[in-house]
Amino acid sequence: MAIAELAGKHLVLGLTGGVACYKIAELTRLLVKAGASVQIVMTEAATQFITPVTMQALSGRPVYTSQWDARVANNMAHIDLSREADAIVIAPASTDFLARLAHGMADDLLATLCVARACPLLVVPAMNRQMWQNPATQRNVAQLRADGVTVLGPDSGAQACGETGDGRMLEPGATYEAIASFFSAKPLARRRVLITAGPTFEPLDPVRGLTNRSSGKMGFALARAAQHAGADVHLIAGPVALATPWGVLREDVQTAQQMHAAVMCAVPRADIFISVAAVADWRVAHVSAHKIKKTAAQALPSFTFVENPDILAEVARQPDAPYCVGFAAESEDLERHGEQKRQRKNVPLLVGNLGPQTFGQDDNEVVLFDANGITRLPRAEKQELARALIAEIAQRLPRA
Ligand code: C5P
Repeated sequence: MAIAELAGKHLVLGLTGGVACYKIAELTRLLVKAGASVQIVMTEAATQFITPVTMQALSGRPVYTSQWDARVANNMAHIDLSREADAIVIAPASTDFLARLAHGMADDLLATLCVARACPLLVVPAMNRQMWQNPATQRNVAQLRADGVTVLGPDSGAQACGETGDGRMLEPGATYEAIASFFSAKPLARRRVLITAGPTFEPLDPVRGLTNRSSGKMGFALARAAQHAGADVHLIAGPVALATPWGVLREDVQTAQQMHAAVMCAVPRADIFISVAAVADWRVAHVSAHKIKKTAAQALPSFTFVENPDILAEVARQPDAPYCVGFAAESEDLERHGEQKRQRKNVPLLVGNLGPQTFGQDDNEVVLFDANGITRLPRAEKQELARALIAEIAQRLPRA
């Protein structure tokens, strides 16, 4: 997914020796596709794991591995290569390279570039779990953090050595997200955002149920945009087939009652509540314990419905309510129904769209309703729209 923050950015992407070098091919492709220019610099050890030819083809620029490279006219590759850089990203960052960085060593081109830089430095560690846990590595990482270096990851899980634990490099997509997040403006820094997304599923019996066509895309896009904007994000999702945005805490639920319980538990810690979920209005009063049988003799089944709790209205009613944002999908006369709904739910901001035709689509067009009237946001891809919405929400927040 293209991220506007990365367009036009110039990155030096440094590879050090580790099997995770294979992930950098994909990372480079993602960065270039997002409009960043990527200058690859590799240590000698990195060239044992992936060839400079591959990295040159993917980045579209010559690759540098030696500080004695005669291609740099003034012979100052260690200064020239990072002169225009917005950041240096070391991925994968090996145990050895972290140690060298922590000690300010300048014993190869990449290490010298880092010492001579005038831009931010991000490292993405990748190593065996014992190497990661080694007190010397932990000391080096703590030192790097204290020196203002941003450390992304590592992940936990299966490792190339056959062991399982901390030390795996973040996946290329997650590394890409983390770099984009690093470059984003932070209008929601230190804010805690609670978001509901997706449909709910209301069972009729153990195999059947009622749901709706909400895909969760808008809520997940908002969770991602809020994370990029610096917020601490808790996402409560109904049944959807979407990957968790990087850096977001996700909790899965099925029914409206479960969503209600999860929200009520989390809301005391939230500064902002964005209620995007298409919560079912009703559930059946008695869920059958066994599959309802289809028998010729039996009459058609009938169900009694009861109303589900209105989660948003209940949160907005609380004395210490967070800043509440509601969503409304209307099929007609959006302007009249939107403002009415905002007042009925008693929320400061309501986002209206001409759904339900937008369910599952990648783009959307919304109208904002607040006490000052109506603001229209132009039709855009949901991720772009989410960024714009987060900026609109940040502007309207009471001062922290
Ligand atoms: O009442 P209606 O469903 O049109 O309102 C939509 C807004 O209310 C959305 O923000 C939705 O997340 C929220 N809502 C809720 N609990 C419900 C129904 C809707 O939080 N039971």
